Amino acid sequence: MEEALLGNLSPQVFLRRHWQKRPLLVRRALPAFNGVIGKSELFALAARAGVESRLVQRKGERWQVTHGPLPRARLARAGGRNWSLLVNGVNHHSAAAEALLRRFAFIPQARIDDLMVSYAAPGGGVGPHFDSYDVFLLQGQGRRLWRLARARRFEQVPGAPLRLIAGFRAEEELLLEPGDLLYLPPGWGHDGIALDPCFTCSIGFRAPRGAELAAAFLDYLHERGLPDAAYRDPGLRPAMRPAAISREMVNFAEKQMARIRWDRGDIENFLGRYLSTPKPNVVFRGSTGRVPDLSRCEAILNAKTQMLHLGTRFFINGEVLVPHPGQRPALAALADRRRAAGRTLARAGLGHLILEWHRCGFLSLEPKT
Ligand code: SIN
Ligand code: CO
Repeated sequence: MEEALLGNLSPQVFLRRHWQKRPLLVRRALPAFNGVIGKSELFALAARAGVESRLVQRKGERWQVTHGPLPRARLARAGGRNWSLLVNGVNHHSAAAEALLRRFAFIPQARIDDLMVSYAAPGGGVGPHFDSYDVFLLQGQGRRLWRLARARRFEQVPGAPLRLIAGFRAEEELLLEPGDLLYLPPGWGHDGIALDPCFTCSIGFRAPRGAELAAAFLDYLHERGLPDAAYRDPGLRPAMRPAAISREMVNFAEKQMARIRWDRGDIENFLGRYLSTPKPNVVFRGSTGRVPDLSRCEAILNAKTQMLHLGTRFFINGEVLVPHPGQRPALAALADRRRAAGRTLARAGLGHLILEWHRCGFLSLEPKT
């Protein structure tokens, strides 16, 4: 299936030749592609409080960004040209968007961020910019002209509400039509201008930065427990300069910091929890009512659920679990394929856990047909 998506390149060849290296344009990657969401549904999502959305308007040389929620009346005021609405995490709200995102499963889930959908009026776009992450841009209805420049140290427009490239000069222009797919590595300059009212799906990726990981790891260590000791100064003498911090106090602090220890298990535990933690706006709706018969169901992970595994540990939505060795294959299958037969999970003694995850809304249990 991915063969067509990547223009007759196998995932191996695509990753070797293009991933993080050079763009790839695939004409008619999805020949009959008509988008994943209609205009009125997209506008309805943009009006919702828990959904991340932006309205980008160009007024001559000036750019204006309005963050959501965006009521329909606000979008109606944007006029007939030169604006774009961008909605993140559409895969959480549309089954078609979730199915499209999962076609990119040849890339590890820990690298996948979300599927964003933009709608642009003619002339609309977000201006010339570069992103820090890889992206696949899949054209839905309408045509969009992409102007590209290879990655370099771009000059940014000071004070702009978007990270715009100053004096952007395109080296290549590509006109994308419905079903065409463009892969861009991080750092490439790009400017997508709608020629018609148009929809673009962005399959976006994530890659943790060192400082971001370190800051989160310090929180993890705090939660795990830090070495503790009370500062004592039985030999204290009268202070000559009462405002001065003593050398003894500094020595104590230095010694305490030097006592902080972690091992690879901490790193693994932290990383899995961190990478599987949902974004703050993600809310799971738990299920109440009749408990289904697991053995007659298929367990399907909720589109919002991030389930990962690393060695003996499994992570689901920020929680860690170390199952019995015999339970690992069934859980790994559920995590990798995002679905598994209830009977297999029940046989592995995971019935209680799966029903608990069902109660929390982490997965659904669909009757097996
Ligand atoms: C879009 O306008 O749909 C894509 C935005 C981007 O280039 O990042
Ligand atoms: Co971009």
